[in-house]
Amino acid sequence: MNINLSGKVAVITGAGRGIGKEIACTLANEGVITILLDMNRSLVEVAAKELADQGFQAYPYECDVRDYARIEEVIEDVIKQRGRIDILVNNAGVASGGPIDALKIETWDLNMDINLKGTFLMCKAVAPVMKRQRSGRIINAASFAAIIPSYGSAAYAASKSAVHQFTRVLAGELGPWNITANCYSPGMIPTDMNHFADLPQDRKERLLDTLTLRYWGKKEDVAYLICFLASDYAGYITGTMIDISGGKLATQIPRAAYEFAAKDGSYEF
Ligand SMILES: NC(=O)c1ccc[n+]([C@@H]2O[C@H](COP(=O)([O-])OP(=O)(O)OC[C@H]3O[C@@H](n4cnc5c(N)ncnc54)[C@H](O)[C@@H]3O)[C@@H](O)[C@H]2O)c1
Repeated sequence: MNINLSGKVAVITGAGRGIGKEIACTLANEGVITILLDMNRSLVEVAAKELADQGFQAYPYECDVRDYARIEEVIEDVIKQRGRIDILVNNAGVASGGPIDALKIETWDLNMDINLKGTFLMCKAVAPVMKRQRSGRIINAASFAAIIPSYGSAAYAASKSAVHQFTRVLAGELGPWNITANCYSPGMIPTDMNHFADLPQDRKERLLDTLTLRYWGKKEDVAYLICFLASDYAGYITGTMIDISGGKLATQIPRAAYEFAAKDGSYEF
C-alpha cells in the first residue's frame, strides 16, 4: 500500500509541539508540503526549521485560531505561495477545566473559543479554497472526552463533543465538492498538555486500568491515522469520529483481562 501524499499541501494548526508537530513531521516524510500554524511563534519556527533542515518543504506561520483576520491573511498567503490546500488538520487545542461550581467562566470560554470556534474559523477560511479545487480533506481533533467525559472536564468535553457534531455537518455540507470531513478521538497520549507519563505511579495505574491496550498512546499513532484519512484510501470515509484510544473502556473493566493473564504469568503489572 503506497499512501502517496507526495506534493499535497497540508495546513496543520497547533503544529509547534506535541501531536500537531508529529502530524507535520509524518506528513512531511510522506512528501507533503507542510504549513505549520501555532499561536506560539518560536515553537512553530523551530518545528518548521527542524523539517526544513531535513530537506522538507515546511513553512511556519504564527496564527492564533481565535483570530479570524489573521487566519484569512495566512490562508491568502498560503494560496499565493503554494496555490492550493489539500489537507486541513485542526489539531490546536487546550484542555483546562475543573468541577462545574469552581469552573471559571474564562476557562469555559477558552475551551470553546480554541477547540470549537477555532476549528470553525479555520474551516470557514479553507472550505472555499477546497470547494474551488473540488477536493479536500478536513480532519479535526476531537477527544475521547467526547465519547466518555471525565470528572472536571465539562468545558473540554462539551467543546470536543461539539467538534464531533460540527464535523458531521461539515461533511454533509461539503460532500458535493468531494471534500471529506472526519474527526478523531485520542485517548491518553503523554504530551505537555497532560504530562500523563510524569504522574505518580498510583495515578498512572488508575488511568492505564481504563485501557484495553494497557499502555499510553503515541503521537505517531495519531499521525499515521491522519496520513490514512488524508489519502485516497480513505476517500469514502466522511462524517465519522474515529476512536484512537487503545480501546479505552471498550469493556467495563479492562484490567480484568490483565489480572487473568497475570495469574498464568503471561502479563506482569
Ligand atoms: N494528548 C492527548 O492525550 C490528547 C487526547 C485527546 C485529544 N487531544 C487533542 O489533540 C490536540 C493536540 O494535543 P497535544 O496533547 O499535542 O497538546 P499540546 O498542548 O502539547 O499542543 C497544543 C499546541 O496547540 C497550540 N495552540 C494552543 N492554542 C492555540 C491557538 N489558539 N491557536 C493556535 N495554536 C494553539 C499550542 O501552542 C501547542 O503548540 C488537542 O486538540 C487536544 O485536545 C490530545
